[in-house]
Amino acid sequence: QLIDTTQYTIVNIDKLTYAGNLESLKSVSDNPRYVFKQVDICDKQAISHIFDQYQPCGILHLAAESHVDRSIIGPGEFIQTNIIGTYTLLESAREYYVSLGDEARSTFKFVHISTDEVFGSLGETGYFREDTAYDPRSPYSASKASSDMLVRAWFHTYGLPIVITNCTNNYGPYHFPEKLIPLIINNALAQKPLPIYGKGDNIRDWLYVDDHARGIIQAFAQGKNGESYCIGGHNERTNLQVVEDICSILDELKPLQSGESYTKLITYVKDRAGHDYRYAMDPTKIQNELSWVPQENFTSGIRKTVQWYLDNQEWVAHVQSGEYQQWMTTNYKVR
Ligand code: TYD
Repeated sequence: QLIDTTQYTIVNIDKLTYAGNLESLKSVSDNPRYVFKQVDICDKQAISHIFDQYQPCGILHLAAESHVDRSIIGPGEFIQTNIIGTYTLLESAREYYVSLGDEARSTFKFVHISTDEVFGSLGETGYFREDTAYDPRSPYSASKASSDMLVRAWFHTYGLPIVITNCTNNYGPYHFPEKLIPLIINNALAQKPLPIYGKGDNIRDWLYVDDHARGIIQAFAQGKNGESYCIGGHNERTNLQVVEDICSILDELKPLQSGESYTKLITYVKDRAGHDYRYAMDPTKIQNELSWVPQENFTSGIRKTVQWYLDNQEWVAHVQSGEYQQWMTTNYKVR
């Protein structure tokens, strides 16, 4: 989206761990305004070298371990990448920022992309807002909450110009198939069980990835330093509703030969430990202050997403590398 809608040159820094895949960026990889660097954000020397070389006018920090189930099984990498990595990036950014002239300093911004999960879990009613108290409950959300706190501290203590965004659950094309939506689509296409944790009544508020990307770009362009912005599209669904929606779209687009519905594959499995019941966001601030409104609702977004996976099975096969398959086999029985 940055390549398509702005004139910026983008330096994309990624460690390319199990969920990273350069194939996802094929459409921009030959663009003269696009540069890729395979670097770990914990490697301060390499990061500082990139800042010196490319003199960025801003940093969008999206690098994180993001899968709650993985964080429950092995929290170490979440502490390392999400907390130590953010700290390292902040330090490199601070050193770079103080080296800039007045003009470059006046427009520089460090945008930290975070999650609604830092706010904890809601009951049947209410919404997360920018002023909701932090109450993270999983190793993943605790690591993201820590990183948000560090980013705020670098603003208050060192004057680094920062903006934080907290988004709801993303979905859409190129989503790594460990998260609910792509996992269900791919399992259904392979006619494998569709695992639903507990009773399937947990609620998530779904945000189409392109809407999220526009929100981040808006926060970079117009966000006020030191502020945070909640991004969500008011698309609350129970997990069971999400899975049933996917099944009914597949029943229409790729019917099973037996004539049965894909819902026959739904399998209730053991609940996640400490499973947050409900996430839901009030996005009034970003709507009013940055004129951001989502273009997709869940009905249109999920249809586009299912169609994308149907059209891109080769991509799916490639991202499901040996390393990923091995991890799934070791850690899950019903997959
Ligand atoms: P997930 O996509 O892992 O995102 P998050 O945990 O960050 O919200 O999970 C979304 C919801 O779906 C969550 O309530 C857990 C549930 N879930 C399942 O029921 N089955 C699954 O196989 C997965 C991966 C998630």
